[in-house]
Amino acid sequence: FGLMSYDPAYMNTAECKSTITYIDGDKGILEYRGYPIEQLAEHSSYLEVAYLLIYGDLPNKERLDWWRNRISRHTFIHNNLVELIQAFRYDAHPMGILISCVSAMSTLFPEAKDVDDPAVREKQIWRIIGQVPTIAAYAYRNRIGRPFNQPDNSLSYTANLLYMMDYMNQRDYQVNPVLAKALDVLFILHADHEQNCSTATMRGVGSSRVDPYSSLSAATAALYGPLHGGANEAVLRMLQQIGNVKNVPDFIDRVKKGEGRLMGFGHRVYKNYDPRAKIIRKVAYEVFEATASNPLLEIAVELERIALQDEYFIARKLYPNVDFYSGLIYQALGFPIEYFPFLFAIPRAAGWLTQWLEMLDDPEQKIMRPRQVYLGAARRDYVPLEQR
Ligand code: CMC
Repeated sequence: FGLMSYDPAYMNTAECKSTITYIDGDKGILEYRGYPIEQLAEHSSYLEVAYLLIYGDLPNKERLDWWRNRISRHTFIHNNLVELIQAFRYDAHPMGILISCVSAMSTLFPEAKDVDDPAVREKQIWRIIGQVPTIAAYAYRNRIGRPFNQPDNSLSYTANLLYMMDYMNQRDYQVNPVLAKALDVLFILHADHEQNCSTATMRGVGSSRVDPYSSLSAATAALYGPLHGGANEAVLRMLQQIGNVKNVPDFIDRVKKGEGRLMGFGHRVYKNYDPRAKIIRKVAYEVFEATASNPLLEIAVELERIALQDEYFIARKLYPNVDFYSGLIYQALGFPIEYFPFLFAIPRAAGWLTQWLEMLDDPEQKIMRPRQVYLGAARRDYVPLEQR
């Protein structure tokens, strides 16, 4: 191939230099800006982590208040987005709605095209992080045919999302702080993950210097796939399909025969364990103490137990990933299954935007333009239709 290297799926290609997220896949290490994920999950909040990613350091109290204020001032959505959401069928997949809404935001905020202006960039970041939960809640309320709850900016980021969705349809719905905290931890764990498929998409599309809404809409589309952020939804459907613990060995045998994958298992980078999965497993048990236990948990635990002892999974270094237990928690929090990838997209927006900023400011970055190895026909002459 001459000077070109052939690397399908970029398995061995570093596309950028980055200072944001560090992963050691063999040791199961994940750090944002140098802080171990375990410490952030235990002590921080999602909005503080979003600040850490975007601005590079933890905020002091004053900056954190300022940042919370910036985000909460951008939680209301434009009426055009409301109408767009209402135009979807009641059973439209929420990720389709999110992709469309984020894309539509580029038309509502055309000044966002000026990606060279740091103040313009910053404002779009506030808007995206502020509005994405509102879009989620609006889509949900529209689907169940209920009036919408306006954002309550006195609540935390995740408590406000639960409040706006109000899945229990209670009057004076009070969000359970244990559940809001659990969702916050999940959001921290999902905030960034270096050059995964959707982040690489954000950088790739953004490298054309298009506005951040268009890039983020493309990143959301990448996340939607079942091998990426759609896996949390796929795990729940798989557990439902298995239906009973006694069917687990049979299901594992079918996976080993190549008749489908064990969703929520395996990772391109983690070949020992996914540190996020460890934390999530613990959160799941905390949530189930506050809610009724999820009967599918028993199936998940048995799947994990058998898979971790099985030669097929051991040889391929397949371990539970972030998506294996997260869906069980989302279900316990009352979210419909189709909303699970949306719950991945909301926190990942901070990571996508941070990576986008880094890409824009990197003097070595040009428009992304990989090469190919051409294997098609050699030159040939056009044959008129009547002679074919
Ligand atoms: N179940 C059964 N076999 C598997 C699985 C699985 N979940 N994952 C990989 N394998 C096998 C695969 O068949 C292959 O076997 P062989 O060498 O015999 O052909 C081997 O393991 C290597 O697989 P691969 O497809 O080359 O690995 P990859 O690094 O390209 O894929 C992955 C990584 C995450 C896409 C894959 O493990 C997978 O499809 N997992 C299920 C979907 C999932 O849970 N995705 C969420 C990923 S974590 C969150 C996120 O980033 O979105």
